[in-house]
Amino acid sequence: YYRSLSVSEMESRITEIKNRLGNKLFIPGHHYQKDEVFQFADVTGDSLQLAQVAAANKDADHIVFCGVHFMAETADMLTTENQTVYLPDMRAGCSMADMANIYQTEEAWSQLQTLFGDTIIPLTYVNSTAAIKAFTGKNGGACVTSSNAKKMVEWAFTQKERLFFLPDQHLGRNTAFDLGIPLEHMAVWNPINNSLEFDGDVEDIKVILWKGHCSVHEGFTLQSVQHIRTMYPDMQIIVHPECSREVVAASDDSGSTKYILDTIENAPKGSSWAIGTEMNLVKRIIKNHPEKTIVSLNENMCACLTMNRIDLPHLLWTLERIENNEVGNVIKVEEDVAIQARLSLSRMLERA
Ligand code: 13P
Ligand code: SF4
Repeated sequence: YYRSLSVSEMESRITEIKNRLGNKLFIPGHHYQKDEVFQFADVTGDSLQLAQVAAANKDADHIVFCGVHFMAETADMLTTENQTVYLPDMRAGCSMADMANIYQTEEAWSQLQTLFGDTIIPLTYVNSTAAIKAFTGKNGGACVTSSNAKKMVEWAFTQKERLFFLPDQHLGRNTAFDLGIPLEHMAVWNPINNSLEFDGDVEDIKVILWKGHCSVHEGFTLQSVQHIRTMYPDMQIIVHPECSREVVAASDDSGSTKYILDTIENAPKGSSWAIGTEMNLVKRIIKNHPEKTIVSLNENMCACLTMNRIDLPHLLWTLERIENNEVGNVIKVEEDVAIQARLSLSRMLERA
């Protein structure tokens, strides 16, 4: 039915419902959302900013999260009992978050405890399930986002000698490397065969990286960098730290979504940039900066497909159900999980 409506009809219905519900409705939108949805967000931001605004909002009864599942779970855990969080399409997950489940994590932890005793602390990228955030909270660790990863890794080393970083090996490796930890002191935990990938004396290990990755950011390769260097020798290359270590090392700069946005915003007129991050965002940066030459680091990349599952029909469907008091795609984390997950989130938010 929604597919039979024209874009302008869906847009005007969404606008009308937003006007009728006023501040009882709140729509946070991640920078990776497509423009058709992004235009309706009350606040836009990266995952850290959206977690902060969700926690700060005390007025809205209905929070329609335009992002992916783990972000909506985080919003649910940081809002009150009386506020309901919705994800317009339940299929909007994150393939990286799906690379670590709680059973694999508990198994890894028990083996790491055997190897390292009480010298290790978990640090979990927010791109993870609520259950893994709870595991992290329970074991004294904290969450991180790409915006505060350095600060949180530094904090973790004030707590314990070693850290277990999950689920993105690249963010963990890039962040630890930037803080001066040599690659030879980093091991990889392979959850497929429950084993530690490391050549050397395990006593030397400072960081254990879960073998997960983002398939969007792994699409930027050394070849992409070399191609840009050949085609546009004067172009600066900036990438997200979910890209591999070799791509980050070959680029000119790297940083979180907010860092990339701020860098391009503050760059001189006429400067030229190749950006290695999600395509909806890169296209929006290109559109918003006609005074700069900007390209994607890999023009063949597509957008994050799960972020793209949130579209106009799903947004309208969700809003109409809310208005008609019908059940929508409610995201509700079980309270026993949420209590422990909030520990890891609040250890991050109080330092963010
Ligand atoms: P940010 O933390 O930069 O918002 O990134 C979220 C994400 O999913 C990156 O791929
Ligand atoms: Fe997950 Fe990667 Fe999509 Fe971010 S871009 S939501 S990490 S799959």
